[in-house]
Amino acid sequence: MSETKEFPTLNKLGLLDKKHIQILDPGHVDHLLSTIIAGGFNKMQVIADHDRTLSRAHYNNEKTETCHGIMDNSPLMPPYYREEASKLLNKYYPIEVDPIMTEEEKTPHMVEWYGKIHTLLIKCGMSRTSIATMVKQSNVRLRDGTEDLFSKLKSKSVPVLVFSAGMGDILEEVLRHFNVYDDNVKVVSNFFEYDEQGNMIGFKGEIIHVFNKNENAVHESDYFKKIGGRNNVILLGDSLGDIKMAHGVPQPNNVLKIGFLNDKIEERMEMYKKNFDIVLVDDQTMEVCNRLIDLMM
Ligand code: C5P
Repeated sequence: MSETKEFPTLNKLGLLDKKHIQILDPGHVDHLLSTIIAGGFNKMQVIADHDRTLSRAHYNNEKTETCHGIMDNSPLMPPYYREEASKLLNKYYPIEVDPIMTEEEKTPHMVEWYGKIHTLLIKCGMSRTSIATMVKQSNVRLRDGTEDLFSKLKSKSVPVLVFSAGMGDILEEVLRHFNVYDDNVKVVSNFFEYDEQGNMIGFKGEIIHVFNKNENAVHESDYFKKIGGRNNVILLGDSLGDIKMAHGVPQPNNVLKIGFLNDKIEERMEMYKKNFDIVLVDDQTMEVCNRLIDLMM
């Protein structure tokens, strides 16, 4: 049988035979997609990572900034912070994306990285009012088509959980800046604590780093209960740690995992194909999600 007939939904969405779209088990994904489409918008929710998932990994041959990066490179931050943060990034980011190390081996390094950055940040006494300027001056950009995707999800009242190991205050400002922070969007991330003058003095709650997204309080909160019945999930991530974001969604569920593979592509391809249903290779757009949503409209 030809692939077109065998996998009708993948075919309808134009996901077959594209080099940058990798699917290990097309039969399973075709079934998952048709179940999600049949369930309609009332049964759907979206869970998305932010840095390099909602936001682009690069633009005009330049790496674009993560929430941390927006601060690390901001002229509003003191030079000692910027120098130190960049040294830490050079040391720890290669560990985050190392294709050989296990998550268990990486985790203590991530905890150490976040701890060091947090101590440094607290020393800076950054002001709440500087965040909007930092975002405006940065090169952060959402993936092409994200605004369109979010506007369609809002129009169909589909809840979107943005779950990020970045900096919540910066992330919220990025979402506001690009006009996608509507009332169907909830952000779970690392948020700053401020003193009465609006200077940053610490962080609220437990650190979320790239590999502990299953341990966050959102899984025990009533978030997933409140949106009960939405057991069809579109999960978007760029790190293997992102797969755990749907941990709190009640069973039985249908989670379509879409992974953006932006860096160390050849070395990580097999792992990504095993863990994500659809792997999008250096795709800086939301085209696949938009096609799926358009098919349901
Ligand atoms: O939104 P997301 O969960 O992807 O945010 C985490 C990202 O922030 C990681 O991909 C990591 O590379 C990046 N990060 C950073 N600087 C730090 C800590 C994390 O750019 N100090």
